[in-house]
Amino acid sequence: MKKITIGPGWFQASSIALGCMRISSLNDKDAEHLIRTALDEGIDFFDHADIYGGGRSEEVFARAAGLNADRREQVRIQTKCGICKGYFDFSRDHILASVDGSLRRLKTDYIDVLLLHRPDTLVEPDEVAEAFSILQSAGKVRFFGVSNQNPGQIELLKQAVTQPIGVNQLQLSLAFTGMIDTGLNVNMQNSASVSHDNGILDYCRLHRITIQPWSPLQYGFFAGVFLGSDKYAELNRAIADLAARYDVPESAMAIAWLLRHPASMQPIVGTTHAGHLKDLCQADRVTLTRPEWYALYRAAGNTLP
Ligand SMILES: NC(=O)c1ccc[n+]([C@@H]2O[C@H](COP(=O)([O-])OP(=O)(O)OC[C@H]3O[C@@H](n4cnc5c(N)ncnc54)[C@H](OP(=O)(O)O)[C@@H]3O)[C@@H](O)[C@H]2O)c1
Repeated sequence: MKKITIGPGWFQASSIALGCMRISSLNDKDAEHLIRTALDEGIDFFDHADIYGGGRSEEVFARAAGLNADRREQVRIQTKCGICKGYFDFSRDHILASVDGSLRRLKTDYIDVLLLHRPDTLVEPDEVAEAFSILQSAGKVRFFGVSNQNPGQIELLKQAVTQPIGVNQLQLSLAFTGMIDTGLNVNMQNSASVSHDNGILDYCRLHRITIQPWSPLQYGFFAGVFLGSDKYAELNRAIADLAARYDVPESAMAIAWLLRHPASMQPIVGTTHAGHLKDLCQADRVTLTRPEWYALYRAAGNTLP
């Protein structure tokens, strides 16, 4: 699997990461098979959050990965904090407590990347800065990022936070392209021109922030998988044609479309099925041409100006 640079030159990691949100449903044997398959395919980056499975996903991963000191060094573990039941919390105390909980469940001494999960409008940047500094100097967290944040929110954090913000995890798939639509429809009067995120795609490229597309196979907000869905018949036909041309599974083509973007994104795939994961990893073999990339974008129902 190809490697990409994460953040502003932090480290190299697999171009596809495994998201562990859904693994709390797996028994230990299946979880072990999934993680082993990921490693065999060259995936060395695993995405977590304190809330996945109510904390169970981190525990299942720790047992399945069985990381001793040597093996721990060979993988990157990312987790997130800040979502609570009914509210968001970026307070110093919450961030510190959440990281301690994740470290305990993940059975590790350090987290490679910590993300603030969803914007907390009550955020006090000074408190975040204090928490990040405490965590970094204690050796508990190496690098920091955000998720679902727009440029203004990142700039606000940067008023106080001294560590680079090097990751922004955002929803993006062939059937969820808002951040791309707005850049293709500048100064138009159609709905695609409406910016929902203040130009986050270009902001991240300008600031060397790695975009991690989450739910790369879903449409809507967890509305379902677009692959094989009647709602996306034209897209599925276009995916099937290109998948046949490149001799890869259709799911791999959906990931190849994300990998082709020069922003050097790291899709977070969320399958719990080792066979599906092997299929997705074949995306690595594909480099779409511009006409092919735009053909998939149009087949998803988008028009170009
Ligand atoms: N930052 C955020 O706010 C946020 C929000 C949501 C998710 N995330 C992260 O993003 C990761 C991915 O999210 P996701 O799970 O929604 O992503 P996804 O990869 O788009 O969806 C995975 C789901 O699609 C199913 N699926 C159906 N057909 C498939 C096929 N042919 N190949 C692969 N999967 C297929 C999978 O089922 P099987 O398991 O049976 O394959 C699984 O239920 C999460 O694990 C989490 O780490 C972050």
